[in-house]
Amino acid sequence: KQRVFSGIQPSGVPTLGNYLGAIRNWVPLQDTHDAIYCVVDLHAITQPFDPKQLAAQTREMAAALIACGLDPERCVLFVQSHVHAHARLAWIFNCVARLGWLNRMTQFKDKAGKDREAASSGLYVYPNLMAADILAYHATLVPVGDDQKQHLELANDIAQKFNHDFGAEFFPAIEPLIQGVAARVMSLRDGTKKMSKSDASDQSRINLTDDADAVALKIRRARTDPEPLPESAAGLEGRAEARNLVGILAAVAGATPEAVLRDHGGKGFSEFKEVLAEALVAHLTPIQAEMKRLLGDPGAVDAALRLGAERARAVADPIMTEAERLVGFLPR
Ligand code: TYM
Repeated sequence: KQRVFSGIQPSGVPTLGNYLGAIRNWVPLQDTHDAIYCVVDLHAITQPFDPKQLAAQTREMAAALIACGLDPERCVLFVQSHVHAHARLAWIFNCVARLGWLNRMTQFKDKAGKDREAASSGLYVYPNLMAADILAYHATLVPVGDDQKQHLELANDIAQKFNHDFGAEFFPAIEPLIQGVAARVMSLRDGTKKMSKSDASDQSRINLTDDADAVALKIRRARTDPEPLPESAAGLEGRAEARNLVGILAAVAGATPEAVLRDHGGKGFSEFKEVLAEALVAHLTPIQAEMKRLLGDPGAVDAALRLGAERARAVADPIMTEAERLVGFLPR
């Protein structure tokens, strides 16, 4: 079976963007692939965070993933800091990746903002750690949202340079899996920005934990243009906000934008937004109930993660031993 790896930062509650762009696509891969999923807390500390909240947020993210359909029996689900291979391989990759490569990363520029001098050095080498996450398992398929594409290209550059520098066909090539009509869910306040856990405005996103009233209010207030919905997908051209809302309904309903517009083309947004909010609430309610149930027994979630880390280590440890041998470290 082909090995899949993906990760998500515990830097807040997962958004509808995380869910539709990534998590939901992870679920079926459990049955067809050797699937490894990781809550990436090492990545979460590259930007300002609250150490008093981090452990609870990590557990909550794991509970959210299980509630969305990841089954710790059918996939390997664990916390990044529990498996040392990630940090060890990331250090080697810090010495393989070139500054010029990192300087091209658009996400660093976005996340560092105006005061780049004040960004952590961890944020700068973030893509190297991401490459290590995947390659420590020799995973070859990585299901992600559209925003991670550039990082995966860099991971391939790192793998190639490692193989070249250390004279071995050791790390495999990685293939991104960017799926569906919602590979890039946009902010509800600005159709040109992606929906993000870390956006200052809570109105910009649907959180997986939002209750029915919050979902309805956020969708009602979502920015749109004044025109009614077009009759076909071609009419979404140049209408970023309309395209986003239609894409969300399509993704939730398991339909195409074309089919959504066949049903709702010509309607005004106030009517369409009610349909959308209702579909979202129906979709999210069972996930929220399951998440609440899981968090009622935090010890059980932690135990599942411990077991996941053990299984992850069993895969990564021999690969790390060989990587360190190739680099030339004295065996322990
Ligand atoms: P993170 O935590 O920002 O997001 C997790 C996943 O959600 C996707 N995503 C979206 N998809 C569609 N629309 C959106 N608005 C949206 N926002 C987020 C992301 O593309 C991602 O797939 N660097 C990664 C985590 C990571 C990782 C890895 C991923 C660390 N190591 C190794 C893959 C492989 C990140 O910050 O994701």
